[in-house]
Amino acid sequence: MAKPTVRGKFITFEGLDGCGKSTQLEKLATELRQHGIDLVTTREPGGTIIGERIRAVLLDSRTAGLDAHAEMALMFASRAQLIAEVIAPALEAGQWVLCDRFTDSTEAYQGAGRRLGSDAVLQLHKVLCGGLWPDLTILMDCDVNSSVARARRRNQAAAQETSDENRFEKESYAFFTRVRNAFLEIAKREPQRVVLVDARPRLEIVHPQIVRVVFERLMEKGFAFEGAHL
Ligand code: TYD
Repeated sequence: MAKPTVRGKFITFEGLDGCGKSTQLEKLATELRQHGIDLVTTREPGGTIIGERIRAVLLDSRTAGLDAHAEMALMFASRAQLIAEVIAPALEAGQWVLCDRFTDSTEAYQGAGRRLGSDAVLQLHKVLCGGLWPDLTILMDCDVNSSVARARRRNQAAAQETSDENRFEKESYAFFTRVRNAFLEIAKREPQRVVLVDARPRLEIVHPQIVRVVFERLMEKGFAFEGAHL
């Protein structure tokens, strides 16, 4: 009889814009692949052809008039497509999925930043994303000032090529403070899933901390990495 496939692990990265999450996600992916883990990396909003089209609408500075509820609905539209097309099939096939942002971002940005509330976000998640939650979420925390400054520098460089700016990064200090506090609240509410990582040190210092968290958390759940040295 064929051995049933073990479901893959689902890891998400969360945090303010410009906190180094995408770089850390890629470094973790490289590390896990070296341990023989078959995985896919993806991002939100986006990650599918349809999702990338939704992303373009969401991030385009020309859609400044987008209603907050419409914005939240589009975030979930992109997510539902990503789950159906990428995340669920990969997990079922035993692959791991590393995703740059997920529903915690909607709770932080739309729920708190745009003040739509956590309940609305969690209810939509239930309807549109089923029971899918990450096995582990790495929340990269840094202060609002340095996050905004880093994101702006990155944006200005990109804007020279694309002549556009990310709509979110035009937001105020107060907006990002609400977003950061919401992330911290989620980490407090769900310590079994969300691990807070200080994003301020250099990336070579943060990376091994993330690797350790992944090993510890997923080993606790009965998973052993082949050849892992803790
Ligand atoms: P992106 O350029 O990918 O930023 P980052 O590299 O910081 O992730 O832009 C994604 C933006 O979308 C980011 O500002 C956060 C925002 N966002 C939401 O507001 N709600 C969401 O549910 C998601 C997934 C992202």
